[in-house]
Amino acid sequence: MKSVTRLALVDPNDGSRSALKSLLLGIDTVWLEAECSRYEFFADVVSQSQPDIALVAIDANAGKGVELIARVHQESPTCQILVVSSSQEGSLILQAIRAGAREFLSQPLKLEDFLAALDRIKYQSQARSGETPQNRSCRVITIAGVSGGIGCTSLAINLGCCLAQSPGRSVAVIDLDLALGDADVWLDIIPEYTIQDVADNITRLDYSLLKRSLTKHDCGAFLLPRPVELDAKSPITPDELKRVVSLLKATFTHLVVDLSKSYTPLDLAAMEMADSILLVTQLDLPSLRNAVRLMQFFQRIEGMADKVKVIVNRLGLEDSQISVTKAFETLGREVYATIPNDYGTMVEARNNGVPLLTQAPRAKLTKAVQLLAQQLDATVNEGEAPVEDRKARRGLFSFLGK
Ligand SMILES: Nc1ncnc2c1ncn2[C@@H]1O[C@H](COP(=O)(O)OP(=O)(O)OP(=O)(O)O)[C@@H](O)[C@H]1O
Ligand SMILES: [Mg+2]
Repeated sequence: MKSVTRLALVDPNDGSRSALKSLLLGIDTVWLEAECSRYEFFADVVSQSQPDIALVAIDANAGKGVELIARVHQESPTCQILVVSSSQEGSLILQAIRAGAREFLSQPLKLEDFLAALDRIKYQSQARSGETPQNRSCRVITIAGVSGGIGCTSLAINLGCCLAQSPGRSVAVIDLDLALGDADVWLDIIPEYTIQDVADNITRLDYSLLKRSLTKHDCGAFLLPRPVELDAKSPITPDELKRVVSLLKATFTHLVVDLSKSYTPLDLAAMEMADSILLVTQLDLPSLRNAVRLMQFFQRIEGMADKVKVIVNRLGLEDSQISVTKAFETLGREVYATIPNDYGTMVEARNNGVPLLTQAPRAKLTKAVQLLAQQLDATVNEGEAPVEDRKARRGLFSFLGK
């Protein structure tokens, strides 16, 4: 996961300082190097302790706070200054930024806002120092299906495992099929916590609690499973889900979300937050008809259709009478990837509770999922396959087309 950031904090108000401190102590990527209750001493504290970040709460005295920002900026130019304030007044924000602040965050500080600011600072400093910036933000990939049993969970799990293989990546799979999801079965995991526990604790959710709620599989991917009970007293709401996803985004490089097939407000919230929506279909008439209906539905939601990537699963299945070319014509968009039909291998992997990478590392099925993982990472423009892949696939399609 992400490396440690050293931080110094100043806030003359004891109450808000202790709230900030407990928020920071819950983040394992942040090391609280120094804390200070007086603006007068803080510039010296920073020059002695040389933290990566100075967190300056300015509500106690905005004028003194802004002066302090200017002093820290001048005396410790490599230290990045983050301001926290309950005022969102434009002139104050401007003064703080002109004095040298990098970010202006609202008080009370929200964990996800703070983590997102850290991420931005890290990315910008990598870019400035000439390092290749690591993937700045986490990629959220939702797996949507055109009907039940189309292959979404098998794809979500195996894609998550393939993505987790590369160094520097951290992947979480979220099972959003709240009623009948079976992602835990595919990975043979008996989870201690589920997405419901996370939702129930949303108000006191800190970073370490969130991470403890996920179960790690040997393949490297983490899993946040569906609730144990079918009838949760207060089911997770779209807003709660968005908060959970924001927090997970700050920790992981990839989130793979296995949606339900009901297209509930929860599924839509996840799709809204997604960078890519993998629409899994097979090449039969009912599936393609639903795919067209879903595409029409996505088109009515701003920004949604552009994120869709069509995945044809079980290519070569005897029942399918439709070619990939025909599917392309019907859907009006290119097929992003195809996964071959190999029921024996897939079912064996599921029954053994292991990913395809373990069950059959050389199988064509496994290679296809690996290729999809690479393709998703290589896709520069969301919604478009890399040119090389498109060329390669066109050749393949002409061979397969009827
Ligand atoms: N490429 C494939 N080749 C052969 N069989 C497959 C393939 N992909 C999935 N399957 C099989 O299809 C069945 C359904 O797969 P899966 O559970 O992943 O679908 P789903 O869309 O998640 O279903 P549900 O709607 O119940 O959530 C499983 O038995 C699985 O082994
Ligand atoms: Mg499923």
